[in-house]
Amino acid sequence: MVDIFDRIKENPGPLGQFADYGEGYFIFPRLEGPIGPRMKFQGKEVVFWSANDYLGLCNHPEVKEADAKAAAEYGMFYPMGARAMSGETDAHLQLERELAEFVQKEAAYLLNFGYQGMLSIIDALVSRNDVIVYDVDSHACIVDGVRLHSGKRFTYRHNDIESLEKNLQRATKVAEENGGGILVITEGVFGMRGQQGKLKEICELKKKYDFRLLVDDAHGFGTLGKTGAGAGEEQGCQDQIDVYFSTFAKSMAGFGAFVAGNKEIIRYLKFNLRSQIFAKSLTMPMVIGGLKRLELLRSRPEIKAKLWENVNKLQSGLRERGFNLGDTNTCVTPVFMEGSPVEATLLVKDLRENFGIFTSVVVYPVIPKGMILLRLIPTASHTDAEINETLAAFEAIHEKLVSGEYKKAAEKLLAEQGLAFKEI
Ligand SMILES: Cc1ncc(COP(=O)(O)O)c(C=O)c1O
Repeated sequence: MVDIFDRIKENPGPLGQFADYGEGYFIFPRLEGPIGPRMKFQGKEVVFWSANDYLGLCNHPEVKEADAKAAAEYGMFYPMGARAMSGETDAHLQLERELAEFVQKEAAYLLNFGYQGMLSIIDALVSRNDVIVYDVDSHACIVDGVRLHSGKRFTYRHNDIESLEKNLQRATKVAEENGGGILVITEGVFGMRGQQGKLKEICELKKKYDFRLLVDDAHGFGTLGKTGAGAGEEQGCQDQIDVYFSTFAKSMAGFGAFVAGNKEIIRYLKFNLRSQIFAKSLTMPMVIGGLKRLELLRSRPEIKAKLWENVNKLQSGLRERGFNLGDTNTCVTPVFMEGSPVEATLLVKDLRENFGIFTSVVVYPVIPKGMILLRLIPTASHTDAEINETLAAFEAIHEKLVSGEYKKAAEKLLAEQGLAFKEI
């Protein structure tokens, strides 16, 4: 036997291993000031590229006013309890009706958090005889939701329709043997690398295979499609998404989430989502504030247009300077470079401290060994000046990376820190 705490001391986990070196800087950084394109980090102003506040609604005066008014009227707790017990209000139902209409579905149901909501959606949709087929690069909420499933599950290679089809053939065999069905799950937009899920091609497969499709469109909602209804609308197949999900934590600049689909399935979910039945309902300021946000999404198309103007300026500026943005076809802007994790940390420090640019950084094992991924999220609030400052900074750090400046500094640091640091 081992003592659980001893094992934890030896293995602090995939993120915990970086705690000594990175806490407060690379992980759990503390940004100050109102959320926006310029925030303060460690006392200095930085151009901030890490908020999923796509439409810049975090600081929109009408949003802040609606939130504040609702908070003054209802407090932060109202309504009491879970929806099923005492937490249902007319405002919840109204937001659900408006969300359903916005994403072109018959009905919607609010979720108090996206992550828990998705877990329960997957849990409620499938029985042990059913088979889940899902993209291998899916968000943790999908991966963890699938973990609750007691039946068969297959992953397909990321956004690879041939691999999906092979797995649908396997799944069909198992489902037929068990007397079950098939649930396919993908993201509308993959938030790390910015590719849209191939929804159109996935929906085409419905002609050959029997399955239901669940889409997590966290990054597509409000940013893609003519009306902002998301990746399905963008690809012309919104009507074939059986269960549509999005969080409010991105374009809606809030918290909470929703699921939408036909009336019967949403009614079923309302009565069967354990994460909602056994947890407190979304609070009134977020529901009333949600109605205001949705009104802005509907009535101010110029905000989305400005977002895309900024996305195009940033992405074309980076591409013109020779940066590799992979195959993003959304607002998510990944910049791939070659280098070790230690070089990545030095480069990011340089970018933050000497150029005043704050981006997220991702290294192995999330991406292949030897690669550095800097992830930028343009918003409608960024200005041309901020984009130009960023492009100039990227040019400068890239030169330093290629000339081996960070590599030399990394070797020096490694020599000073010894083996423990080498493991990073
Ligand atoms: C793709 C995706 N799905 C689900 C979630 C979870 O949503 P929430 O933050 O509302 O729990 C996130 C993160 O916000 C996400 O990026």
